Amino acid sequence: MIVSGFDFRMRPAQPHITVEDYRRAARAKVPAFVWAYVDGGAEDLVTLRENRTGFSAWSLRSRVLTGVGTPDLSTTIAGMNISLPVMIAPTGYTGLVQWHAEVSAVRAAERAGTRLVASTASSWSLEEIAEAAEHDHCFQLYPREGDLAAKLMHRAWQAGYRTLFVTVDVPTIGLREGEQRLGMSMPPSMTPRRALNIARHPLWAYRALRHKRMAGRNFVSGGSLRETAESISIATRHLVQATLSWDDLAWMSDQWKGRLYVKGVLDPEDAIKAVSVGADGVVVSNHGGRQLDHAISSIAALPDVVAAVGDRAEIILDSGVRRGTDVIKALALGAKGVLIGRPYVYGLAVEGQLGVERVLEIFRSEMERAMILMGVGSVRDLDRSWVIARSGRSDDADDRSTRFHSSIRPH
Ligand SMILES: Cc1cc2nc3c(=O)[nH]c(=O)nc-3n(C[C@H](O)[C@H](O)[C@H](O)COP(=O)(O)O)c2cc1C
Repeated sequence: MIVSGFDFRMRPAQPHITVEDYRRAARAKVPAFVWAYVDGGAEDLVTLRENRTGFSAWSLRSRVLTGVGTPDLSTTIAGMNISLPVMIAPTGYTGLVQWHAEVSAVRAAERAGTRLVASTASSWSLEEIAEAAEHDHCFQLYPREGDLAAKLMHRAWQAGYRTLFVTVDVPTIGLREGEQRLGMSMPPSMTPRRALNIARHPLWAYRALRHKRMAGRNFVSGGSLRETAESISIATRHLVQATLSWDDLAWMSDQWKGRLYVKGVLDPEDAIKAVSVGADGVVVSNHGGRQLDHAISSIAALPDVVAAVGDRAEIILDSGVRRGTDVIKALALGAKGVLIGRPYVYGLAVEGQLGVERVLEIFRSEMERAMILMGVGSVRDLDRSWVIARSGRSDDADDRSTRFHSSIRPH
């Protein structure tokens, strides 16, 4: 319908302009048990919430009349040139949400000038994901000495992955009670109420049955219920082990010829150990608040990890990143880039590949706008001088004086 020169068809009924908009829209697209899996967190959700509120402990400095035009967001992570310091985190069983999962995600990442970290428990095999991509991406694995890990590392190398992310914060699976209440188990526990809830999502149910992308396809070749159960059992039995130690990581580091990042570090001493066994970088992460409840938020953990290994290793942050300003704060505190988990899954649920592209675009435009308002021209210029700790921090006064001296630039 065209009225007075305006084309109303061009305007979506409800535009999604923030990650939170995508979150709300995503919830309606999938059954309750899938939503509990994606959006839930451990126990009382304290860490999940603090992953968000932690960013508010820092204010952004803003300088005026700096003549900054479009800011430069390009950087390198693990030797890869990317034009947006926001990469896609590994998420397992994403085919539950949208059957084309990682294939859409890897294409969207490339369109946005960034990269994907493919999960061990991906819904497409690591070879299929590599085939859908033009560039080399990253592969995530759990630390485990032995055949399965060796085979997966070999397959990943053959398929062209050159950076390995070893996830160390899953010695056991966190207690996500929302999933338990909704029967998220293998096989799924079904009640009439749950069946009714699935029946209310006919498109989701049709695609799930037709495309069968709910299994971890690095472990099994098909998507039947039996294979899905088998893939989950392999993942939990062989990869998630409480007895793992630094020796396992050292073994992986010896086996892997490319770059290696340790994902799930919150303690500076662990960061030092990771570097000492050969890690090129660490991901400061609490797994999006899905593992240990009451663990420190990632943004609160970041400064001490940077102080411990920032001069020797690349540092990436994830957990709770929802805004361009969150990325800016992480970079200013010493991270080279961030990973986003749930935000990309929301985009995928709502609009498939396009949704992931839009979510990445939201991060880009929010970062650009904030950096113009701050008066900073490049992500490479972001340092501690661009953030101000809110009151109550003992290093506040020191911070300010260093910031003042280090930030005076000739004009
Ligand atoms: C549904 C879901 C599945 C995940 N699966 C994995 C996984 O297979 N391997 C892994 O290392 N991390 C996994 N994670 C953790 C993410 O890689 C990342 O650390 C976390 O999502 C970041 O927090 P955010 O969701 O707040 O961005 C998963 C997260 C979610 C939400």
